[in-house]
Amino acid sequence: MPNITETLKQAAEVLQASGIQEPRREANSLLAFALQKDKTYLIARSEHKLSTEEEKRFQEFLQRRAKREPFQYITGKQEFYGLDFTITKDVLIPRPETELIVENAIKLLPKNGKFCEVGIGSGCISTAILHEVKTASAIGLDISENALKIALKNTQQHKVFKRLQLKISNVFEVLKSEKFDLIVSNPPYVPSAEIETLPAEVRCFEPITALTDGKDGLSIIKKIINDAPKFLKPRGFLLIEIGFNQADKVKSFFSSNIWQKIEVLPDLQGIPRIVKAKIR
Ligand SMILES: C[S@@+](CC[C@H](N)C(=O)[O-])C[C@H]1O[C@@H](n2cnc3c(N)ncnc32)[C@H](O)[C@@H]1O
Repeated sequence: MPNITETLKQAAEVLQASGIQEPRREANSLLAFALQKDKTYLIARSEHKLSTEEEKRFQEFLQRRAKREPFQYITGKQEFYGLDFTITKDVLIPRPETELIVENAIKLLPKNGKFCEVGIGSGCISTAILHEVKTASAIGLDISENALKIALKNTQQHKVFKRLQLKISNVFEVLKSEKFDLIVSNPPYVPSAEIETLPAEVRCFEPITALTDGKDGLSIIKKIINDAPKFLKPRGFLLIEIGFNQADKVKSFFSSNIWQKIEVLPDLQGIPRIVKAKIR
């Protein structure tokens, strides 16, 4: 059996041939995961020969990654807002820029505040907010039943499930007369025509309903903005994540004068990322 040094060298070559950037770093991460050790172990025990079982497990992960499956679907985990989330192919992998919704939501929620999330997916946004704001409660909506199962698992893992109701729903369809202090959403906003341009990891593995509305990328955002006033308390807020170049169009959807204070907040790279709006 090859030792750790030899295994890493071979794996980096396989990953490089598959077009993966930083193949050496990824080989390290995959091997550390396969051996259930941290990366310092790989350096300290570089002469360690893999057992047949370790080699088999590692080669399986390596082949999956070489086919461009995201590392997070192989490990089944992703960190978001300092918490570990269970991730499967039924949910979008949480992105760091989405933490901006959490940061703003925490500031906007009043004591005992209630919020609604449209398109809860893995539950990362709602779970992180509920984990930080202990008096808050929420309703999480998603069109995907499988995504809701993962959201439930994550809310249980982080012990916030008693303050979150999960419902299957096309945008707000399932709601009746509920009123919220805040509505948050990271909706599917990639125009369908742009799906082909995305990296293989995203295009071939992440759920298509989490990425795009199947149209111009703006239809669900527009529906949320149009319907949100029915479900917001007076002076309630809406926070929506948007895609590259969508800010001007999205601002134009706030045509009703019930909306005030419409702001576009940039992410850490200066890209307009979140639209924040308040109703009268
Ligand atoms: C971009 S993902 C966001 C997931 C998670 N909130 C996050 O930030 O990582 C969008 C989510 O919206 C859901 N979705 C798509 N269309 C929907 C609709 N019409 N109504 C409700 N949810 C929808 C998808 O199933 C997916 O879970």
